[in-house]
Amino acid sequence: MSLSQIARSVCPSPTLALNEKAAILREKGDPVIHLGGGEPKSKAPIDALLAASAHLNSGEIRYAPADGIPALKKAVIRYTEEHYHRTVAPENIICSGGAKQAIMVALQAILNPQEEVLFPAPYWVSYPEMAKLCGANGIPVYSEDGSFIPRIKDIEQRVGPYTKAIIINSPNNPSGVMYPESFIADIIDFCERRDIYLIMDDIYHRLVFDNKKAISCFDYAKDFSENSKLIVINGISKVYAMTGFRIGWAIGNKKLIEAMTNIQGHQTSGPSVLLQKAAVGALNGVQSCIDSLRVTLENNRNVLVDRLNAFKGVHVTKPDGTFYCFADFSAYEKNSHKLSNLLIDKVMVLTMPGIEFGMEGYLRISFCGSIKDITEGIERIKWVLDPESPNELYIGDRKLVRDWI
Ligand SMILES: Cc1ncc(COP(=O)(O)O)c(C=O)c1O
Repeated sequence: MSLSQIARSVCPSPTLALNEKAAILREKGDPVIHLGGGEPKSKAPIDALLAASAHLNSGEIRYAPADGIPALKKAVIRYTEEHYHRTVAPENIICSGGAKQAIMVALQAILNPQEEVLFPAPYWVSYPEMAKLCGANGIPVYSEDGSFIPRIKDIEQRVGPYTKAIIINSPNNPSGVMYPESFIADIIDFCERRDIYLIMDDIYHRLVFDNKKAISCFDYAKDFSENSKLIVINGISKVYAMTGFRIGWAIGNKKLIEAMTNIQGHQTSGPSVLLQKAAVGALNGVQSCIDSLRVTLENNRNVLVDRLNAFKGVHVTKPDGTFYCFADFSAYEKNSHKLSNLLIDKVMVLTMPGIEFGMEGYLRISFCGSIKDITEGIERIKWVLDPESPNELYIGDRKLVRDWI
């Protein structure tokens, strides 16, 4: 079969592959614990459901404008004023099928083949593949000190004549780390001086813990002209637990948004009007669901970090936000795929191999599930890895025997 170069270069999504594996095991009746997921378990806000069902009941479900319905743009303007202290115009906004499509369309609008987009490591699995879909190159930038906090020096050193854009995701998937204000200020200043697009992927910005506050990039920007190359990405998936609704948006200069609208118009048209109505309901409705999600996640994080710290060989960086912890298991096994597979095969616990996020020896462990899943999952992992574990483990009435160490 003859496939395009791009089709051949793109890797399958490791998250989707893991979900499939979990589904197959569950179908077989295996007591799987999924610590690899990327979505909160709470229900979608009632205001979102009511708004969507009211529109559904009208029976008139039509095409939406390619850049989003006016009501959603209005809600995004209000959201941006409240959380970013910045008033933007409707022409500065495009609503897309999730933050994922908003990022993809932004990259398609700015990248030429062979050009580069940089992002600090560890990074979200989709960035390198999205760059490939544009025929461009995604370049991870590693901190010289090996930490999860990028340093402006490392990025400056990696920027070259082909660098067109930088993506910053803070709080970060997979590390959960929120980058310091000084770094955000520096990277904005650097990109403005060097005329490089800066994409702020803020999808987790309201899921931060320990009374920390999300940082608004607009507080540090100096260029608010229509030449500004700052692009802010957001969406309802994570913060409102509305992953399946597929609504996200980008804020950028008017010319860029116009170009993105042209691309999206030919790709998918505007996102479903029904789901945009749901997003309007979520953004304009009662916001207490976010606080309760954040409190639950913070508690889950505390339990997970506590349990992981009990391992002799695991090094943990406490997440500031999101629902991911990126823990260093290299003292037990340096190959993260091998380790992740061992945990699935032996104790049916799903985790994401660190190498998918650009760092070997790590596992991404999600804490968006229940406390029971977290504690039981970590207990099973400990049983596999700790040489002092008892020889047997019972999962329900199933007896497992250590046969690998
Ligand atoms: C860093 C990051 N950006 C963007 C997205 C995409 O979110 P959405 O569901 O809005 O497409 C995800 C989802 O996992 C993510 O982790």
